[in-house]
Amino acid sequence: MSFGLSRGRTLDPGPIAVPPALIPPMPDDVLTNRAGAHLPIHTWFEHPDRPLHLEIGSGKGTFLMQAAPRQPGVNFLGIEYAQEFYFYAADRLRRAMVPNVRMMGIDAAEFLHWRVPDNCLHTIHLYFPDPWPKSRHHRRRMVQDRFMLDAARTLVDGGELRVVTDHADYWAWMEEHFARFTPPAAGAPFTREVLPPAGADLLTESGQSEIVGTNFERKYRAEGRTFNAALLRRVARVAAGQG
Ligand SMILES: C[S@@+](CC[C@H](N)C(=O)[O-])C[C@H]1O[C@@H](n2cnc3c(N)ncnc32)[C@H](O)[C@@H]1O
Repeated sequence: MSFGLSRGRTLDPGPIAVPPALIPPMPDDVLTNRAGAHLPIHTWFEHPDRPLHLEIGSGKGTFLMQAAPRQPGVNFLGIEYAQEFYFYAADRLRRAMVPNVRMMGIDAAEFLHWRVPDNCLHTIHLYFPDPWPKSRHHRRRMVQDRFMLDAARTLVDGGELRVVTDHADYWAWMEEHFARFTPPAAGAPFTREVLPPAGADLLTESGQSEIVGTNFERKYRAEGRTFNAALLRRVARVAAGQG
């Protein structure tokens, strides 16, 4: 329950929440048996055979509210570690009765690193991640070499890492990281593409297409900020000689 965003209403994630029973503790031998900690995420959805998308840092859940009904054949897992926002977003999705979304209120970087199986995500959405502008806080940024390796490990061949930011310094940091994982870097697991704008159903009042239509995109657009975006596509493992 939360009283800030909810304005005193009781927030209820209901069936949107992934219940704790589905997340057993990490096995003792996790360092020698990484796969032993992986979770059968697909089975948390009514249609386990459908493509799985992960949104990191869902905030108020605006992206999921739009994307999930538009793509009913996709399963969306949203992760938001600020509990107030997690409850708000999950409650919102429950009330809208969006059937193809589940949410977790945990640290997405740790979840991706330890609990997500290899080769299982079709898309990772990372929109307006916290920029942590001070140098001593840069290690808290989501985009790190470890994150890039985890994205490469968990995305299926042809899968997509989609990123948008308004923050110039974080964008420069991202560009440095992306360069290490895209050609001409040897054995690069990703190719780089332009993130296409969202469809006509995401038009602003001025008729301009939004990029992803999250809360922060709307807020920053109203302030006149500019955005940078990237799409990194997972190279097929056989083509890259990675088995
Ligand atoms: C700047 S907000 C952007 C929210 C939303 N994506 C949008 O564009 O409106 C970043 C969000 O990411 C969440 N976040 C940051 N680090 C996270 C982590 N390691 N795991 C899960 N959520 C995280 C924050 O709590 C915050 O709600």
